[in-house]
Amino acid sequence: MEVIICPDYDTLSRKAAAVVADLVREKPRAVLGFATGSSPVGLYRELIRLHTEEGLDFSGVTTFNLDEYCGLPGDHPQSYRYFMNENLFNHINVPMERTHVPSGTEEDWRACCAEYEQRIVEAGGIDLQILGIGSDGHIAFNEPGSSLGSRTRRVYLTKQTIEDNSRFFDRAEDVPTSAISMGVGSILEARTCVVVVNGANKAEALAAAVEGPVTSMITSSALQWHPDTRGFCDEEAAAKLTMREYYDWIAAQREGDN
Ligand code: GLP
Repeated sequence: MEVIICPDYDTLSRKAAAVVADLVREKPRAVLGFATGSSPVGLYRELIRLHTEEGLDFSGVTTFNLDEYCGLPGDHPQSYRYFMNENLFNHINVPMERTHVPSGTEEDWRACCAEYEQRIVEAGGIDLQILGIGSDGHIAFNEPGSSLGSRTRRVYLTKQTIEDNSRFFDRAEDVPTSAISMGVGSILEARTCVVVVNGANKAEALAAAVEGPVTSMITSSALQWHPDTRGFCDEEAAAKLTMREYYDWIAAQREGDN
């Protein structure tokens, strides 16, 4: 995994958004994978700015989101569909019918998950997947112990994740206890992954993801198997990386190459 350490959250958001923007300019019909949570909000803000101020055109793009809470309809303010509409889709010119978020309200969730995977295949696969990391190192909702070959399915959330995500709900008991989530195996099929990580509470998870052993206990560590993953982090999130000097040295070499 390539590690790009940025001085602050704004810089990492801008740099990560630039990777998305470059792809959309080069491939107007790109298939983008999006994530929720607070980490990618700055990246989405920058994409909105690039659209409104610089005319970045999303009209040919198709999108797939990683996950959705079970039991929350898309118009629920804490649903991930609502989050995406509010934080990105309503502010750019992507056709809403080409934005996909798993449904958390289908009774036959197995069929629904299989169909979601099928739609990704029919769209030509995900060109670029945006990811955040949970404080326990998970990607999407692939909690510790998830198979590294897992596909889109229903998952039960850990107490830690429920507690972390309770900040978005009025009461902790309102946080859904399960979700529909793309699997680690599904995510690894994206051609490029862009991971955004900020804040001191992610420092341990990031170090484990990048420098620890590949293990289902830290599902983000599976990205070490991915051929093109770029991790953008701020100084606080980078604090526990042991190879810090080497990452900085690589970054300096790259600047020299350009
Ligand atoms: C949830 C989401 C993940 C996200 C994680 C971290 O668990 N399913 O996709 O990466 O939260 O969220 P945040 O960026 O708010 O720390």
